Amino acid sequence: MDLGSACFNALLLSAVLLLLLLVHVVHRRFTILQRYGIPGPTPYPLVGIIIQFLRSKTGFKDIDQELFKKYGRVNGYYFGRAMNINVTDVDILKHVLVKDFSNFTNRTMFSELERCANTLAENFLKRADEGKPVPVKDLFGAFTMDAIACTAFGIQINSQNEPDDPFVRHVVPIFIPRNIFRRLPFILAAIIPGVSILLRVFKIAIFPKESCDFFSRMGQSLIEDRKKNPTRKTDFLQLLLNAELEENSFDEQKEGKESTKRLTTEEINSQAFLFFIAGYETTASLLRYAAYELALHPEIDQKLVQEIREQVGESELTHDKLSELKYMDQFVNETLRFYPPFARFNRRVTNTATYGPYTFPAGATVNVNAYQIHHDPEYYEDPDVFDPDRFSPERKSTINPITFLPFGCGPRNCIGMRLALVEAKIALVKILQKVQFVRCSETVVPLKLKILGLLIPNDPVLVRVERRQ
Ligand code: HEM
Repeated sequence: MDLGSACFNALLLSAVLLLLLLVHVVHRRFTILQRYGIPGPTPYPLVGIIIQFLRSKTGFKDIDQELFKKYGRVNGYYFGRAMNINVTDVDILKHVLVKDFSNFTNRTMFSELERCANTLAENFLKRADEGKPVPVKDLFGAFTMDAIACTAFGIQINSQNEPDDPFVRHVVPIFIPRNIFRRLPFILAAIIPGVSILLRVFKIAIFPKESCDFFSRMGQSLIEDRKKNPTRKTDFLQLLLNAELEENSFDEQKEGKESTKRLTTEEINSQAFLFFIAGYETTASLLRYAAYELALHPEIDQKLVQEIREQVGESELTHDKLSELKYMDQFVNETLRFYPPFARFNRRVTNTATYGPYTFPAGATVNVNAYQIHHDPEYYEDPDVFDPDRFSPERKSTINPITFLPFGCGPRNCIGMRLALVEAKIALVKILQKVQFVRCSETVVPLKLKILGLLIPNDPVLVRVERRQ
């Protein structure tokens, strides 16, 4: 054998060995869930279920349902290389989410929210007079934008009547679904190790760069302004700034020097941005589905209006009166059960953990599909019937709290829960005092839904709005 062919053979052998090693590594990676006893489909190497997800018209809604039917309440799959475990088993959910509620409340935001809700009700009245089908999400989106701008950033905007406001212009691109091309880097990151580092290095963000820059600049100038001119405001931004001050003075007292644990302006800013993202779409979504169900169920509308007349009448709306609206509470809960706006959230497994026959490997993601749990006949009788009375005082106790997850559960649950509930209820009271939602030929029944983390209808929700007699 001459030297050339010996070299060639050595190269070929190395290539084959490398390929075998690669196959072995990939095989080991893609059989972890199976080896840990998590049942699920045999994954396509490298991509897992990505192709199925891209083809799906309902996001994770039908995928999760199929996996549940085939593999049971605990099942696993790969999204690219990422290990995912779906859980709808109540006992395991309790472990994964760990009960420990710590919700955020703020009484003084009430009047700001009321101001935004009055504008919303006026706008619905205008639409009633136009007589055309109304895409309710547009109005609710503008309302929650105004509400979150004052509760998170302490700024008053009127996006409900001024859609050209720079705040509005920079927000809209954040929520417009990205096309496949824009999503490509994130799909590649799920498949190929190291791509996520490249995304970070090249500052390729999940949200449009211009919007992030806008929020960053705005947050920074608001923070600087607050530091120069202290205020008694009680929005999220101020609470974060207060937390910074409190932490410093405590540390200063303890150690006699300035704290090193200061929240940076950037951290405060990104928290305020997070509140915005988490609170805007979700609350608008709740109101959209509420309007839809009211259009389909005039009898529920009647009961709500009756209660509002009895408890509030023509008098001023207060926090106490709002909490007296028991049927309203049932209705909002049922809307959140039927249509959980944040339909699917997750937890990272930090340490390998065993629950009965299942072992969850470290590094896997545990998915909690609240929509699926809320529509499970084992947890809710006739789950596909919209019935606020399942939350009545007599029947409420039959619901296992871990199966009602619109705001998540445990130490990482939604900190905006109380604010969102107050905001949505104020809006509903103000609207229902003035108008009624009515089903029309453009109202799509039943509503087709998809789950992409958020619960999204395939068609816009259109209803007619009539002045209340
Ligand atoms: C109807 C309205 C809302 C719904 C259904 C909702 C739902 C949720 C859910 C399901 C989670 C994840 C919880 C978990 O992982 O256990 C969450 C997290 C969160 N929510 Fe809400 N939320 C709503 C409104 C709000 C509002 C108004 C705010 C703030 C003003 C807010 C701020 C947050 C924040 C900061 C997080 C934590 C995000 C993180 O740590 O990744 N949410 N929310």
